[in-house]
Amino acid sequence: MATLKICENEKLSHINPEVYGHFSEHLGRCIYEGLYVGEESDIPNVNGMRSDVVAALRELKVPVLRWPGGCFADEYHWEDGIGPKENRKKMINTHWGGVMEDNSFGTHEFFELCRQIGCKTYINGNVGSGTVQEMSEWVEYMTFPGVSPMADLRARNGHPEPWKVDYFGVGNENWGCGGNMTPEYYANLYRRYQTYVRHYDKAAPIRKVCCGANVDDAFWTRGVMETCFKLPHPEHHHGFMDALSLHYYVHPLGWEKKGSATEFDEKVFYTTMKKAMYMEDLINLHGGIMDEYDPEKRIGMSVDEWGSWYTVEPGTNPGFLYQQNTVRDALIAGITLNIFNKHSDRVKMACLAQMVNVLQAVILTEGPEMLLTPTYHVMHMYRHHQDGDLVRSQLSGVKTVGEGLPQITESVSVKDGVVTVTLVNLSASESEKVDIQLSDGAYGKLLESKIVASGDIHDHNTFEDKDKVTERDWNVTGTDKGVVVEMPAASVVELRLGK
Ligand code: AHR
Repeated sequence: MATLKICENEKLSHINPEVYGHFSEHLGRCIYEGLYVGEESDIPNVNGMRSDVVAALRELKVPVLRWPGGCFADEYHWEDGIGPKENRKKMINTHWGGVMEDNSFGTHEFFELCRQIGCKTYINGNVGSGTVQEMSEWVEYMTFPGVSPMADLRARNGHPEPWKVDYFGVGNENWGCGGNMTPEYYANLYRRYQTYVRHYDKAAPIRKVCCGANVDDAFWTRGVMETCFKLPHPEHHHGFMDALSLHYYVHPLGWEKKGSATEFDEKVFYTTMKKAMYMEDLINLHGGIMDEYDPEKRIGMSVDEWGSWYTVEPGTNPGFLYQQNTVRDALIAGITLNIFNKHSDRVKMACLAQMVNVLQAVILTEGPEMLLTPTYHVMHMYRHHQDGDLVRSQLSGVKTVGEGLPQITESVSVKDGVVTVTLVNLSASESEKVDIQLSDGAYGKLLESKIVASGDIHDHNTFEDKDKVTERDWNVTGTDKGVVVEMPAASVVELRLGK
C-alpha cells in the first residue's frame, strides 16, 4: 500500500483556472462540424454553434479557449472572416488537408462561441505572414470602445460593443510553421509586434503570450528571454510579455511514426507514460531559464499545446489529425494535469490540443452524434482544482512499474474549505491501495469519490458504445486520518473532502 500525506494547511501556489484551457484550430473537423455547424444546419444549434457540444463544454467548466491556431494562425488574415458570410473570401487551408476554408467562422463567431461556453478568450495573431498593421487593426477591431475606423467597422458588422480579449499570442511556433525564424529574429519581431497590441481597456489589459519553445529547445527559450523579456515598469505597468509558451506532444513511436491510437502493446504503453511524465522535465528546464530572468515568477508559462498525437484513424484524411482516445489518454491527461498543478507557481495557462475531433480531443462527433472521450471525463473530475490552492503532499511506498516509472502520481488542492485529491495509477495490470492521510481532522467528510477506469488500457468510446469509459462513483474506506482508496490498474481517481 502507498501512503499519501497531505499538509492541507500549507498552501504552495494558486492554480490558475486557465491551466485547464483548450485549443481550437481551423484544422480538420474541429471548428467546422465539431463546434460550428452554421445557422442553417439540421443539427440543433444556437447562432451556428452545436448545442450538444456547447452544453458538454459548459459542464466541463472550460476556462479559456485558444483560436484560430496553431499553424493556421500564421496564415490567417482576420479581415477574411468578417462581414456578410456570402462575401467572405474562400481559400484553401494549405496547412491542414488542402480543404476549402470559407471563413464562415471568424472573429464574431469565435466570441459568440466563447460567450456560449462561458470562457475567456485567447486569440493567436499572425506574425509569420501578417503585418504589424494587420495585427494592430485586429486588436483595435476587437477591443476599441470608442469611435475609430476599426470600431466603426465592427459596429457595421453587427457588434457595436467591444469584446474582451483576455490573452493574445504574438505568433505561433515561429521556430517552425510560423516562419522558421531564429530566436533572435523572432524576439525582435515580438518586441515590435506586441507594441501595437494596445490595451484600450486599461482596467482589463490584454495579456500577451510570446512564442516559446518546442519540446526541449532551451536555445530558443534563452534567446527569446534574452532579447525580449522586460519586467513591468512601475509607471508603465506592462512589460513586453505576460507569458511564454511551450508546446509538447506525446508521440509514442516518435514524430515520424507516431503510433496507433488504439493498438499498442504494453511496452509502447509504458513508453507513452514515460513521455507524458517528461512534461515535468520540460517545465523544469524552461522554468529554470525563466527563473534566471524572472525569479519572482511574474510571467507565466503557457503550455498552450499539449496532448497525445498518434497516427490518424485509418481511412481518415491525414491532414485532419483525427484520432481515437483510450484509457491510455485518460492517464496522459491525469498525469499531465497533476504535473501542471504541482508547477502552478509557473504554469499559468495550458491548452489541451485540441477541443473536438482533433488529436487528444475531449469530444468526438459524427454527423449529429457526439461522444465524450475518456480525456473529457478526467478533465471533468479535475475541474475542481481550478482556482484552488496547491497544498503540500507527498507519496511514499510507491512501487515502480514499466520504464522505471512510479506507479502512482498525485496532486492536491484546497478551495472553499474543500480538499481535492487526484491520483493516477499508471500500471497497466496492477491495482494498488493508497492510504490518504490528512494532517488534522478538520476535513473528515467525504463529499465525492469518482473514478475513470475500464477493464483494459485500450478501451475507448465509440458511437455504438458511448459510455464504455466514463466517470463513475467509487467507494473508499474511511480511516482516522482520511481514507483508503483502492485504485484499479490504469485508473484516475478524484476525491473531495470537506469539513
Ligand atoms: O495542433 C496541431 C499543430 O501542432 C498546431 O497547428 C501547431 O501549432 C503544432 O505544431
